[in-house]
Amino acid sequence: MTTYNKNEVDEKNKRIFYFKNILKIIVIQNVTMFLYLCMLFSVVHSFTIEFPYGTNFMVKVKGINLLTVNQQTKEDLQYLFKTTPVVVFENQYITPEDHYLISTWFDSNYLNKKIHPFYETQVPSIDQIAIRGKGVADCFGVNDVEIRNARSFKYTPLWHQDVVGNKWVMPPVVSSMYMIKTPETGGFTSFASMENAYESLSVEDRKICNEINCIYSPIHGYGAQVDFTGYGRLDKYWEETMTKEKIDAMSIQPLVIYPTAEDTKRSLMLTPNKLYKFEGDERGKTPAYTQEKIRYLMHNHVLRQGNVGKLHYKENDLVIFNNRKVMHTSSPLEEYKEDRIFSLLFLATKTPLYNISTAL
Ligand SMILES: [Fe+2]
Repeated sequence: MTTYNKNEVDEKNKRIFYFKNILKIIVIQNVTMFLYLCMLFSVVHSFTIEFPYGTNFMVKVKGINLLTVNQQTKEDLQYLFKTTPVVVFENQYITPEDHYLISTWFDSNYLNKKIHPFYETQVPSIDQIAIRGKGVADCFGVNDVEIRNARSFKYTPLWHQDVVGNKWVMPPVVSSMYMIKTPETGGFTSFASMENAYESLSVEDRKICNEINCIYSPIHGYGAQVDFTGYGRLDKYWEETMTKEKIDAMSIQPLVIYPTAEDTKRSLMLTPNKLYKFEGDERGKTPAYTQEKIRYLMHNHVLRQGNVGKLHYKENDLVIFNNRKVMHTSSPLEEYKEDRIFSLLFLATKTPLYNISTAL
């Protein structure tokens, strides 16, 4: 059996003490290095933004792959969407499942319901998404289906807000489009801020607009003839025979809303081609007068200089926008010969419409 004298024991204890301390230092250094690399990793994977659309309410996000974002980046994007209602992501390679999942990040009140009417080209695996545009839909499980469009979409960019004026369905907070095939020329969406439009009204006009409810008639809107402005209705739809079917499909929605319960800014909400008239029996609220007032609002407040941005698409662009804060156009179908194909999502929501008397 080995025996140690006192000096040898002290020397051994010293060595153990030093060894333990060196080990501690190595562990601390490695943990520090790991934390530093984590920080560096999150910095490398953050994104940059730019405003190339001539407006401050539309933003392009650069340097991001939406399939690999971490929790911090996701929260940053949610905040970006809260501050800026139109967000464009370039070069995203996503499936309809990804498209749906990413869109749900931006509405905590979303519902898994289908609210679009495009049953012929809906994607079988995610039926909330439909293939739209011009030409033949032949992707994501939709096989060789001609995309049908109403005549009003042929020659003018039609200004609208998605699903506004449809009975029993809340207009979505989140709408989004993913570009699958884009033509050489043509193929765009213009956006206009409805928050800016409201804020450009005089105090007197705000008071008037705050009190207005819109009666919408989707059936009268099916055959709408709309002029070059994208909102000027040409046909005398009020002379058509009124039927029970038409009356049953009508709905009433406020002209001024708070987009969600969290919002503190008011916004106009409007879709001219489905609008029948303002609610009320006064002479100034007939269908013809209503159209005149809407043209005034659109020309002088919604589409005034600086309040419109135009997004020209490239393939694999994904745009996600707050449908209750902006109005947007369709792209005139006859501007291009080639196919233009995109997947479209109206994300259903249980967020009610907050008019000025029910919010804040
Ligand atoms: Fe739309």
